Amino acid sequence: MSAKTSVRSAPGKVILLGEHAVVYGRRAIAIPVTGRCAEASVQVHAAGPVRLEAPQIGELWRSDGRASSLLAPLGELVFAALRHFDAEGAGLTARLRSTIPMAAGMGSGAAVAVALVRAIAAALDRPSSHEEVTRLAMIAERGFHGNPSGIDVEVTARGEPIVFSKADGARPVLPAAADFHFVLADTGVAAATAAVVGAVAAGFTEAPERYETAFDELDALATKGCDAIESGDAAELGPLMDQAQSVLAAIGVSSPEIEALVRAARNAGAAGAKLAGAGRGGHVIAIVLSPNDIPAVERACIDAGAADTCVTKLLRVPREAKT
Ligand code: MEV
Repeated sequence: MSAKTSVRSAPGKVILLGEHAVVYGRRAIAIPVTGRCAEASVQVHAAGPVRLEAPQIGELWRSDGRASSLLAPLGELVFAALRHFDAEGAGLTARLRSTIPMAAGMGSGAAVAVALVRAIAAALDRPSSHEEVTRLAMIAERGFHGNPSGIDVEVTARGEPIVFSKADGARPVLPAAADFHFVLADTGVAAATAAVVGAVAAGFTEAPERYETAFDELDALATKGCDAIESGDAAELGPLMDQAQSVLAAIGVSSPEIEALVRAARNAGAAGAKLAGAGRGGHVIAIVLSPNDIPAVERACIDAGAADTCVTKLLRVPREAKT
């Protein structure tokens, strides 16, 4: 068996509209954050242990030694992938690196899982279909998050904006008539997706009708958001994001830090702003109508306590390039 090193990567993501509701079967829109990515470097050996190294966070997981609980879901993924690609019993060393902050709503777990599956397939000289990559990556995602909808794995594997529901899967949502520019501001508060999804589940059990109504509202906003993106109407998208933020706050997933950044972004000229992902921390996403507005929004968010900011954009795709 070759001991070549195969390196693959996958981008971070943010949820534009529909987080939490998507866990309950509604639609959500997710976009890749191409400036942030996870990378896996993999060597497969004829025999030996599985070893996963994440030096940036000081984590090491070994199949024959002390297990880091943080990387354990990826260990499970590796065994499933080796079995799937007819290499059961092989040894493997993977080095994981990422510029996606953890527990910050940017899909770091999904991106590293997708990069790892792709690198394993490449190290074994096996082709890997989108279906194989996402199915195997979901093994780790379930270990990280308990009850993931699957949207994070889909968007990072595709690397393009998608609308997703559990029933219908993913389809691309591509702007045809205008570019869209977003500022992402990090509250600096780590919030584990599993804990926030669990809190929403507890609220749902107590007041199912109220939560069903909220999820329906978020679904309707995601549907309108697809129209706004596909018709190139950035001005339309901002108010939809603002409305989504109100609904998300009402189901208890906002926080004082999120509200401060949302307010600062809007006051500095953003056309709309909301939390992105599980909430209670992580990132806020704000839309600006012109790239010229980006510096003022970034500065305002930093002044309001953001730990960091970055930008992401959706560039228009000419209609003939979509097919
Ligand atoms: C996390 O990026 C989005 C949530 O809706 C959870 C999920 O869909 O798995 C909060």
